[in-house]
Amino acid sequence: MKILVATEKPFAAEAVDGIRHIVEEAGHELVLLEKYTDKAQLLAAVADVDAMIVRSDKVTAEVIEAAKQVKVIVRAGAGYDNIDVKACTERGIIVENTPGQNSNAVAELAIGMMIYMSRNQFAPGTGCELSGKRLGIQGFGNIGQLVAKKAVALGMDVVIYTNEVKEKHQRWKATFSLEHLYSSCDFVSVNIPATPFTKGCVNYNLISKMPKGGCLINTARKEVVCEEGLEQALSERPDLKYATDIAPVRYAEFKEKFGKQIYATPKKMGAETAEANMNAGLAAAQQICDYFAMGCTKFKVN
Ligand code: 3PG
Repeated sequence: MKILVATEKPFAAEAVDGIRHIVEEAGHELVLLEKYTDKAQLLAAVADVDAMIVRSDKVTAEVIEAAKQVKVIVRAGAGYDNIDVKACTERGIIVENTPGQNSNAVAELAIGMMIYMSRNQFAPGTGCELSGKRLGIQGFGNIGQLVAKKAVALGMDVVIYTNEVKEKHQRWKATFSLEHLYSSCDFVSVNIPATPFTKGCVNYNLISKMPKGGCLINTARKEVVCEEGLEQALSERPDLKYATDIAPVRYAEFKEKFGKQIYATPKKMGAETAEANMNAGLAAAQQICDYFAMGCTKFKVN
């Protein structure tokens, strides 16, 4: 089988070597399309392959239409909002992700962003410490749980938001109210997937409830934060801060208007570590080989 790795933002070289090893050991052929700049390159590359590994690459209905032989697509990562899952399902294509494989890298970035924002983005001046502050976790999946554990080690008081009590929630201080989470926490870390249900859910009503000096950390998707609500909250409350791993659509305008109240990484870097690339990339390759060898679809999302 031909397995395409299509990554506009490439994996670390050692991860590509590892993927190649798994694919070739299983008797398949690896095709590599990295750092492509044009959709046409992706459309051409998918034409004769049987499986695809992608990162945040946009797998639209047009790409799926061009991928005539593809049977399985694995998103090497957690969020698969970049894939037109409905179009895949209609074509009988299996879509999988690799949950948990890059979570630690994202959780470390969330902690790093909290420190960065508390220290005035490393500009001269008096900042504050994380120890003794309260952190709210919105989204207690693989990333949220890791952020919580690391924050405890830093001396933070952690509260999680949940609407159901599962075993993983039990040793944590929890609230069933998002309003309560935002109004009682100095920091809130957003770790939720982007779905039609979550888009814009972090709105003015929540952000503006944060206590004085509150800081919102978003290592999820930009769409989960309501941009107008964020703008209004930051305008009315110069003490509030927002750090994100995906810039808002109007980031240049926001930066001009809000200065040190806002920070966005230049390019999404939550999963940009050698370790995360290895974990997610190799898991994706193995999942595809397992599918072709024995029909395994353990991580299927459609
Ligand atoms: C994910 O959903 O796994 C992360 O956002 C990482 O995305 P990336 O592979 O594009 O860096």
